[in-house]
Amino acid sequence: MRESFAKMEPFFKTSEWDLLRKAKNVLFLTGAGISEESGIPTFRGDQGLWKSYRAEELATPEAFHKNPALVWEWYDWRRGICSNAEPNPGHIAIAKWENKNPRLQVITQNVDGLHARAGSKNLSEIHGNIFWARCTNCHSKFHIDQITPKRSGIKFCPNCEFILRPHIVWFGESYEDRILVRCWELAKQAEVVFVVGTSAQVSVPSSLALSAIRNGAFGVEINPSVTNLSDSVHVHITDKSGPTLSKIFQTLFQEE
Ligand code: OAD
Repeated sequence: MRESFAKMEPFFKTSEWDLLRKAKNVLFLTGAGISEESGIPTFRGDQGLWKSYRAEELATPEAFHKNPALVWEWYDWRRGICSNAEPNPGHIAIAKWENKNPRLQVITQNVDGLHARAGSKNLSEIHGNIFWARCTNCHSKFHIDQITPKRSGIKFCPNCEFILRPHIVWFGESYEDRILVRCWELAKQAEVVFVVGTSAQVSVPSSLALSAIRNGAFGVEINPSVTNLSDSVHVHITDKSGPTLSKIFQTLFQEE
């Protein structure tokens, strides 16, 4: 275990800035905290969704089986928040960094689509995407705009008319194999891993970050709070991700 320490600006030692500048395989692993500054609620903590809602009634296959209308209503409400949100300086800094370094990769637990809207292309949305639905029978995937009538409540497959479900990985479900294999490979190759805005309480994303660090990646956490990963990273920046990532990008590339 490495010693965790909170870093303020200039965040890194000169040799670490050099490493960030030269690294090709830069991996970002993000969670709800990166979208907090866009006005999207996180899950845990005092203001988190799981304070007011019960995950087992809304985000499990059993909950959907028992009350699909309620589950759809909850995801329709959250999708409305995501539609009205804009990418913040954190999402934008990562997307601009990818323009400079096309090998940069983002693995996100977020389903809000904000990384893609900011311009990130090398993106693995491991928990799905709230703007997509898939058929419980024929497994076809549809963007929410393709579903007519585009109404709240239970939705049905345009192909086979069976019930659609949100394209989300719920508690108790497995990750898509293809995505997972790719993410383990990215973790193995990473020279630098940024862990941003996640409480690291979900085991797969947390293990991906740990695996990257154990394979030799320089680990940086950006989170105002201490997490399960804080002891394992090389640098923990205890600040919000928007301003922090903007400053890191500006320092590395000398542009806004
Ligand atoms: P959490 O809500 O568990 O954690 C959010 C983290 O973001 C916390 O550690 C906060 O301290 C941090 N945070 C808050 N504001 C921040 C800011 N402005 N900048 C940086 N960090 C900030 O969210 P996740 O770790 O993403 O799954 O949760 C993982 C999964 O658990 C979610 O994908 C979701 C949830 O249950 C499903 O719904 C299946």
